[in-house]
Amino acid sequence: MADTQFRQHAATTGIMVVTRSLAPVVGWWTCVILILLSQINVACSSSHLTPSVIAATDRMFLESLALQGMQLSFDNTTAATKDWGKLRHLEPAAVVYPRGVEDIATIVQAVARSESDLTIAARGLGHSTNGQAQAHNGVVIQMTAMRGIRVMPLGDGASKGAPFVEAMGGDLWVDVLKASLEFGLAPKSWTDYLHLTIGGTLSNAGVSGQSFRHGPEISNVLQLEVVTGKGETVDCSPTQHPELFFATLGGLGQFGIITKARIALEKAPQRVRWVRALYTDFAAFRRDQEFLISAISPFDYVEGFVVANNANPINGWSSVPFEASDISEAMIPGHAGPILYCLEVTKAYSAADLHTIDEVVESMLAPLNFHRELLFKTDTSYFKFLDRLHETEVQLSSRGLWDQIPHPWLNLFVPASSIERFDMLVLKKIMTQDFSGPLLVYPLNKSKWDKRLSVAVPEGPDEIFYIVAFLRNKLPELDGGPTLSTMLEDNDNILRVCEPLRCKQYLPRHQDRIQWKRHFGSKWDLFVQNKQMFDPRAILSPGQNIFSRRRRLVQVDSV
Ligand SMILES: Cc1cc2nc3c(=O)[nH]c(=O)nc-3n(C[C@H](O)[C@H](O)[C@H](O)COP(=O)(O)OP(=O)(O)OC[C@H]3O[C@@H](n4cnc5c(N)ncnc54)[C@H](O)[C@@H]3O)c2cc1C
Ligand SMILES: *[C@@H]1O[C@H](CO)[C@@H](O)[C@H](O)[C@H]1NC(C)=O
Ligand SMILES: *[C@@H]1O[C@H](CO)[C@@H](O)[C@H](O)[C@H]1NC(C)=O
Repeated sequence: MADTQFRQHAATTGIMVVTRSLAPVVGWWTCVILILLSQINVACSSSHLTPSVIAATDRMFLESLALQGMQLSFDNTTAATKDWGKLRHLEPAAVVYPRGVEDIATIVQAVARSESDLTIAARGLGHSTNGQAQAHNGVVIQMTAMRGIRVMPLGDGASKGAPFVEAMGGDLWVDVLKASLEFGLAPKSWTDYLHLTIGGTLSNAGVSGQSFRHGPEISNVLQLEVVTGKGETVDCSPTQHPELFFATLGGLGQFGIITKARIALEKAPQRVRWVRALYTDFAAFRRDQEFLISAISPFDYVEGFVVANNANPINGWSSVPFEASDISEAMIPGHAGPILYCLEVTKAYSAADLHTIDEVVESMLAPLNFHRELLFKTDTSYFKFLDRLHETEVQLSSRGLWDQIPHPWLNLFVPASSIERFDMLVLKKIMTQDFSGPLLVYPLNKSKWDKRLSVAVPEGPDEIFYIVAFLRNKLPELDGGPTLSTMLEDNDNILRVCEPLRCKQYLPRHQDRIQWKRHFGSKWDLFVQNKQMFDPRAILSPGQNIFSRRRRLVQVDSV
């Protein structure tokens, strides 16, 4: 069906059915519709599809692979056109369900050697927000088809008995945690949400409240198995093919497909004491956060978020306590401004520490400067704490408010020396009644990010940078709130304010080469060299929009 007739259902409009004769102008046509939609403020959301216009020769080529036994689907590509953002929907030519690393090597080799325009995107769960795991007219490799977790509690002898876990690129972090906990072990560094794939997060960084101490997830990988853009399967580590190892981690899927990763483990605690405390003053909030991530830090997880000074249950102060009834308007200091800052920390412990944990946490909180009456605590298992977003997922999903709606997210790394200005110019301005989503702000220590990793962090002398995450949900029109185009404009405005502040985007999205070059800064030349080395035809992760596919081998120019 997809290649005889293209259907586009634009929200509310009755236009559509673009037939084969219109194929060459489909790109332009989509643009016009997008512009029209944005002008009339219609959310150009879930229904936009840029259909597949695959060349007959490419189709025949892919069909020949299917004939050789590759599990390939040409019809059921809908899931591969979707992601968490719901902002872009590009139709691939085919979706591959690999049964082993050999399948991945075969398809990458075949596509790399063909004189075609085919590209390949590894796809985890498509939790990207801007089509980064999509491949227009290309091949999407559904990595979750290949799973398998192996815990090595005594290491392999070579790494002095240090425990590790080996997982496939398509395994989920939550499953890695469950498997490790059976041995009383757990990885050290996390994301706030665990239903993400190993390959997808390691292509970015994987940041959470433990990153200040252990670095991001990509700082906790011992070894990778990667299928490069040439179709070669390579084991790499800091000592074995280190160029490929460091290029791939945080490499936005540009150099190879992560088929397996070996991740360091530690002894898992049993429980966590989980604390939130409110501040009215940004300077006091950040001083305490930076104190808490310093080398003597007693807490094992440090985050923070911004709430509006109102009772909005999504992002007002009523979202702070673990029991909503534990807070009331009367408790908010009269001098508080339009926003409040919430520190979030945990102290992990085990049964043996049960009788001292209260005292220990009290003494840790003593030097901090939050409002004493605005302190909230709870206690939960280590697993439940790490998987804390899952309950929210189940609730929101049943109401059609989880992966069913658009998420115009923006994530930034802001140097510590710019954060006060950022607070004045952005945080105090944007957080309103209809922000609708979390706004996270917490510091990270740059020394935990190996300079050889591909990921771009703020350059300059600051030892600390903040992650600031604007995680807005586009609620259905019925519920009111800003339009999607307003939210996207807000993001553009924030990026404009950020430019002189030497911020970097995390989970980045850029329009063109010039912007990508600026994004990677001093890492750009190496990034381009690595592309030439490991994916010379630029077939991998085209949705990142950094390089374009080359039919013949020619030098990749660095702008
Ligand atoms: C609810 C929610 C909470 C989140 N919380 C955090 C958080 O706390 N911290 C944080 O750092 N991030 C967080 N993220 C972002 C998350 O890290 C990214 O979405 C990331 O891309 C992982 O998603 P995924 O596994 O679905 O990968 P995808 O979106 O499917 O892929 C991401 C990119 O990696 C490429 N890719 C996928 N698999 C592979 C592979 N095996 N080898 C090579 N390239 C591959 C894709 O082509 C694509 O370019 C969150 C996302 C959501 C939806
Ligand atoms: C299509 O793919 C989705 C997700 O990959 C799967 O859940 C669904 O069962 C498939 N449908 C058919 C008809 O094969
Ligand atoms: C950052 O980490 C380094 C190395 O562990 C440490 O020496 C330094 O004190 C840390 N800085 C801060 C501000 O936490």
